[in-house]
Amino acid sequence: MRQYRIAAIPADGIGPEVIAAGLQALEALERRDGSFRLDVTTFDWGSDRYRRTGSMMPEDGPEQLRAFDAIFFGAVGAPDVPDHITLWGLRLPICQGFDQYANVRPTRILPGIRSPLAGVGPGDLDWVIVRENSEGEYSGHGGRAHRGMPEEVGTEVAIFTRTGVTRIMRYAFRLAQSRPRKLLTVVTKSNAQRFGMVMWDEIAAEVAREFPDVTWDKMLVDAMTVRMVKNPQSLDTIVATNLQADILSDLAGALAGSLGVAPTANIDPERRYPSMFEPIHGSAFDITGKGIANPVATFWTAAQMLDHLGETAAAARLMRAVEKVCADGILTPDVGGTATTRDVTDAVCEAIRMENI
Ligand code: IPM
Ligand code: MG
Repeated sequence: MRQYRIAAIPADGIGPEVIAAGLQALEALERRDGSFRLDVTTFDWGSDRYRRTGSMMPEDGPEQLRAFDAIFFGAVGAPDVPDHITLWGLRLPICQGFDQYANVRPTRILPGIRSPLAGVGPGDLDWVIVRENSEGEYSGHGGRAHRGMPEEVGTEVAIFTRTGVTRIMRYAFRLAQSRPRKLLTVVTKSNAQRFGMVMWDEIAAEVAREFPDVTWDKMLVDAMTVRMVKNPQSLDTIVATNLQADILSDLAGALAGSLGVAPTANIDPERRYPSMFEPIHGSAFDITGKGIANPVATFWTAAQMLDHLGETAAAARLMRAVEKVCADGILTPDVGGTATTRDVTDAVCEAIRMENI
C-alpha cells in the first residue's frame, strides 16, 4: 500500500467547505483504487486563529509542514483582517519558504460549462499558465517613509534573478514539451520595463535553445489579454511573471466559465519540500456558509496533487468523474446551475465508484 501524508489547511471563508468536499472525493478514490492511502492531518490555521492569538499560524508552522508529502490548502482572507496580513501570515510564507517556485494553473472549458466567449467551447481553450511564484513583483521588497506626511513615499520593488528566471523558463519549456502541441508563449512587458523584463526575455531565448522541438513566441502582457479573448485556440502553455500571471489567470478562469473551476499547484519541482495545492478562487465570504461554493476547482487541484504524488491513474479518474458530472449539468450557481456543493460532491463520488469511470 502506497501511503502519503497530507496536510490539510482549510483556513478561511469557503475554504473549509471546499476542502471537506475535496477530501470526500479523495476518500472515494482511495476506496476505488485500493492501492494507496492518504493520511490526512488537518490544521486550524487562518484568520480565526489570528483573531484569537495574533498570528495566522504558529511560529514553527512551516517546520510542522515539512514532513508532509503535500499540502491541501483552502483559502485565506477575511473581511475584518487586512489582506496583506492573511496573505503574508500564511500562504506566502509557505510558498516562499518551501521554494514552490512553479505555480501551475491549467484552464480548460469543461463539458457542460459555458464560456462567456461566443462560439468558444471545450477544445477551443486548453491552456496551462506557469506563474513564477518566488520573486518578481511579490518579492516583498520595498518600504515606506514619512508615513502620513505629504512627502510620504512607498516603494514596491520587483526582483528578477537569473537563477529564478532560468528555472521557471526551464520548467515552462519542459511542460510545453510534454504537451501535444509543444507550444509556449512567454509573456513580458519589456517595452516599458527596461531591466528585469529585458533580462527575462534574454533568458527565455537562451533556455529556448535547450528545447529545439518547442515552438515559442513572446507577447506583451497587454496584447496578451486581447489574444486570450480573440484567439484562444492559438495558445497552449504560457509563462509569465508572478503578478502578470496572477492577472492573466483570473482572466483565464473567467473565460473558462468561472473562477470556481480554476485550480492551482504551487510546486517545488526539485521536491526538496512539500508542494501545495489549492483552488484559485479565494475565501469568497459573500457566499461563505451558504453551501453553494463550487468544489470543482478543489477537485481539479486534488487531481494535480495526485499527479504530483505519482498517482496518475487516480488523478485521471477524478478528472473524468468531474467532467461527467459537469456534462450531466450538476452545476453550482456560479456556472449557471442550481446544485449545492454537496450535490456536486456526492455526484462526483458516485461517478468515481462507477465501473466505467
Ligand atoms: C492568486 C490570488 C492571490 C495572489 C491573492 C489571494 C493574494 O489572487 O492565487 O492568484 O495574488 O497570489
Ligand atoms: Mg489571483
